[in-house]
Formats: sequence, C-alpha cells, structure tokens
Amino acid sequence: MRKKIVAGNWKMNLNFEEGQKLTSEIVNMLKDENVKDVTVVLNPPFVHLYPVKKLIGDTPNLFLGSQNCSDKTSGAYTGEISAAMLASFGANYVILGHSERREYFKESNELLTAKTKQALAHGLTPIFCCGEPLEIREAGTQEEYVKHQLTESLFGFSPEEMSKIVIAYEPIWAIGTGRTASSDQAQEMHAALRAHLAGKFGKDLADEISILYGGSCNPSNAKDLFSKADVDGGLIGGASLKSRDFVDIVKSF
Ligand code: G3P
Repeated sequence: MRKKIVAGNWKMNLNFEEGQKLTSEIVNMLKDENVKDVTVVLNPPFVHLYPVKKLIGDTPNLFLGSQNCSDKTSGAYTGEISAAMLASFGANYVILGHSERREYFKESNELLTAKTKQALAHGLTPIFCCGEPLEIREAGTQEEYVKHQLTESLFGFSPEEMSKIVIAYEPIWAIGTGRTASSDQAQEMHAALRAHLAGKFGKDLADEISILYGGSCNPSNAKDLFSKADVDGGLIGGASLKSRDFVDIVKSF
C-alpha cells in the first residue's frame, strides 16, 4: 500500500520564533488529535531545520524535509547545502524540482537528476516536483509536458531507486493563485503519470509510488482531491503556514 503523505513547504517564510511556534502547534495537534496513517513532512527553510527537528522529536509519522539540496557532495560551493549534511542531523525528505527553483534559479532536468542522485545516495527521500505552466494547460499538451519532465530527470534511475522517490504534481497556474486544479484534473494527470511510470518501471512499482498534488490545496478542497484514486496526498504551500489549516488537510483522507 503506497504511503499517504502531506508535506508542508514553508518556502521563504517565518522567522525563528514563528517557525518554532508553528512546529509546536502542529506537533501538539497531531498528538492530541491522534492523527494516524498519514506521513506528515515539514519542509522549513534551511535555518529552521535543526530546531524544527528537535521539536519534532519522536512524534509519530512526523518527519523533517528540506526544500532543496546541492548536486555536489561537498567542497568549495559557497552557500550550498549538501544532502549529506541534511541527513547528518536527521532530515528524511527533500523537495526537488519545485517550479520556483526551475524558474528563478534555472534548474534544469539534468541538474535535478544530479540532485536526486545526491538525495538517494544519502538516504533522503526526494519529493520530485513537476507541473505545467498555464499556456501549456491552455494548449492542452500538459500530459506530454509533465511526462517529459519525469522522463528527462528520472528515467535513468534503477527500479530500486525509483521506488524511493515521491512525485508531486504542481500545476504552476495553481501555485499560490487560489485557482486549484479540480479533483478530476488532478486525477487525470496523476493517472497519466502513474501509467507513464508503469511503462518504464512496471505496473507493480508504479502502483507503489506516492503521487502528491500541490497548488492551492486547502482544508476546503483537500478531501475532494485526496478522495481520488491516484492522489496520495498533497504538497502544501500557503496553508502549511497555519497549523490548524495544515493539520485539517492532514486529516482530510
Ligand atoms: O510546494 C507547494 C507549493 O508550491 C504550493 O503552494 O501556496 O499554492 O499551496 P500553495
């Protein structure tokens, strides 16, 4: 049975105190409300990682993730953070290929392959993002576009490596806009991506890969989205900065 996952992408938000407050609230809600059977991941900015890890402690099903990692192992790369460093203090996941990094930092499919290799080599679970811009959706070529992202970055991995990767489909036109993809649109793309993965890696493996939806997911639409057969959870931006909203999304399965 593939994992149900809800990951919170804080992006470049919250000072130290705000991050500590949010994390403490989420930890307490998850414990008090006895939330089970969902893997929850907090993905704060780098500076929050260690203090958030300390607050997570032994909270069941709650894990720490980063929003990025270097494609390099170590060395003279000023400003970079390696997968090995992240793993050394207990990070478990890393978001890679987010559309904001592809756009603002020009991250290519090739670079993302190297970053994914680093994550896997150091025991981190990649949450590999893909998704089309509005003009592609309007042209009706979204499936070809997104499949190409996966082919270019992930299809050189072994089945064993691929089995360790989580996919996050985030239509760019839905990110931060309040214009959420419909649950049918999400299901259509998720099913197409799962079939694409099955064509390369076999149906059994593809059926075990968690595919998350991201893009204006919130407590009012999460239940409908998560009810779809191939939607295995969400990658949450704005709503992850509010503890009540985030935990309500976690409880939406
Ligand atoms: O990585 C998740 C993010 O891109 C979605 O953002 O604010 O639309 O939930 P948001």
